[in-house]
Amino acid sequence: MAASLVPPRQFADATLENYRPDPEHPSQAEAVEAVRAFVESFAGRPRSGGLFRRGPKAPPQRPGLYLDGGFGVGKTHLLAALWHLAPGRKYFGTFIEYTALVGALGYQEAVRLLSGASLIAIDEFELDDPGDTMLMSRFLGELVAGGTRIGATSNTPPNALGEGRFAAADFLREIQGLADRFTTIRIGGLDYRRRDAAEAAVVAGDDAVVALPDEAGTTVDDFGGLIDHLASVHPARYVGLVDGLRTAGLLDVRALPGQTEALRFVALVDRLYDAQVRIVAGGLPLDRVFGEDMLAGGYRKKYLRAISRLVAMTHAGAAPV
Ligand SMILES: Nc1ncnc2c1ncn2[C@@H]1O[C@H](COP(=O)(O)OP(=O)(O)OP(=O)(O)O)[C@@H](O)[C@H]1O
Ligand SMILES: [Mg+2]
Repeated sequence: MAASLVPPRQFADATLENYRPDPEHPSQAEAVEAVRAFVESFAGRPRSGGLFRRGPKAPPQRPGLYLDGGFGVGKTHLLAALWHLAPGRKYFGTFIEYTALVGALGYQEAVRLLSGASLIAIDEFELDDPGDTMLMSRFLGELVAGGTRIGATSNTPPNALGEGRFAAADFLREIQGLADRFTTIRIGGLDYRRRDAAEAAVVAGDDAVVALPDEAGTTVDDFGGLIDHLASVHPARYVGLVDGLRTAGLLDVRALPGQTEALRFVALVDRLYDAQVRIVAGGLPLDRVFGEDMLAGGYRKKYLRAISRLVAMTHAGAAPV
């Protein structure tokens, strides 16, 4: 189980060097420097200064680094880059994966398994469930006491309307005992996946979907049927649906009927995106499946992120690899 705690395939090559900070958003270059300084502190010595050789004083490093910001600014990329740079035994997973680990092994056993690691990277730290948040704070507190460093990123709070609202204050408040252990970095900017003007989802057409080769790793589903099917599977199991999948064909894409279906679909989109599945679709463009009412509501950011991910996956299908 711990063996699967590594960055998703798409972030296997994420480095600080191939992160391109947007000059219009200086916080991006600052974030790169913050990650670099954080990693350098792993060696146990400050970057400059010292008893005999005094340079400008480096601020003392805290054992935690929290990357906060809107979707697509490269939080996961930077967290993966941090993970790649960390020495020794290290783990990378989403908040949900860590809570699942604690659930499966039990609290003590999970602490035992991860303790002594140099770094625990937690993508998309969730604050939705007070119980889970408390559990994870306590869990991390024990690991930090043993010398482990923590890197974390914010998720998309469901009630965060607009892209300008950051979650760092909520994060620090919720992880109470640990708050002073974290340096928080706010990364501003636009969705990187949209920087290159890939605005709309590619519609390959139902004919193209039907013509997909009948082979392992390729599926073809009727969109409506797929949405119905999602209701019968727990979202935690969606990861099983994408296992081994490389290309997903979707016939006759239509607007999602309601919020419940939309949120389930968002959960599936996240798993498809993690698995870097290419989508070939017919019907309505996939960036238009969420209705105006949904995009105006409390889950706006979740939907916008799903749209951004869907657009990227349909382009993966269009571009020669
Ligand atoms: N500044 C950047 N330079 C290079 N690649 C970037 C940059 N920002 C993001 N990317 C790439 O864009 C994609 C989206 O970035 P990433 O998933 O890290 O964003 P995120 O902030 O975690 O977004 P989300 O809210 O969707 O989790 C990734 O493939 C990532 O490697
Ligand atoms: Mg991310």
